[in-house]
Amino acid sequence: MVLEEITDENWRDVADVAPADDRRRFVAALGARYPLLSQRGGLWNSLGVQAGDEVVGHVMWAYDDEDGTHWIGGMIVNAEEQGRGVGRAAVRALLRRLAALRDCREVRLSYHPDNAPAALYKSLGFEPTGDFEDEEVVVALSATTA
Ligand SMILES: CC(C)(COP(=O)(O)OP(=O)(O)OC[C@H]1O[C@@H](n2cnc3c(N)ncnc32)[C@H](O)[C@@H]1OP(=O)(O)O)[C@@H](O)C(=O)NCCC(=O)NCCS
Repeated sequence: MVLEEITDENWRDVADVAPADDRRRFVAALGARYPLLSQRGGLWNSLGVQAGDEVVGHVMWAYDDEDGTHWIGGMIVNAEEQGRGVGRAAVRALLRRLAALRDCREVRLSYHPDNAPAALYKSLGFEPTGDFEDEEVVVALSATTA
């Protein structure tokens, strides 16, 4: 599993990434919107999650210059690939990438409390900050732990 920048070759496959129907309520947008947000917004950076020759997921990151933290968002693994370790490998790879950045001291993300697979983040060491974003719990991991 590798994380790939969005390119002329892979953008269609990244835009097509879609979770299982019963998981859609846990993401703010489906695949296509996240790469557009990254392209247009000047904040988020989309990455394709590639397994072998195939794009199987999407994840993105951002730097919040208000509080000096890095954020992970837009984590989606294609429905047929879910539950096989892709999400865990992708988050770990992104954590390594972010922790290597000179200005990275803390990585944050948010998830809906009813989203069972979000147990993934707890198992990687993320801890609640006490903050909420809309209905989502905000958790954080120190870059030295990542
Ligand atoms: C959340 C998501 C990205 C996880 O990716 P994944 O490839 O399915 O996850 P993995 O197979 O790597 O599993 C990682 C951990 O998640 C948990 N998990 C995965 N699927 C689960 C399920 N259906 N129920 C409960 N826990 C589950 C397990 O703790 C698992 O840990 P384990 O490896 O010790 O068993 C994926 O399910 C998804 O795209 N969901 C829809 C979109 C979404 O909710 N995104 C996250 C928003 S924060």
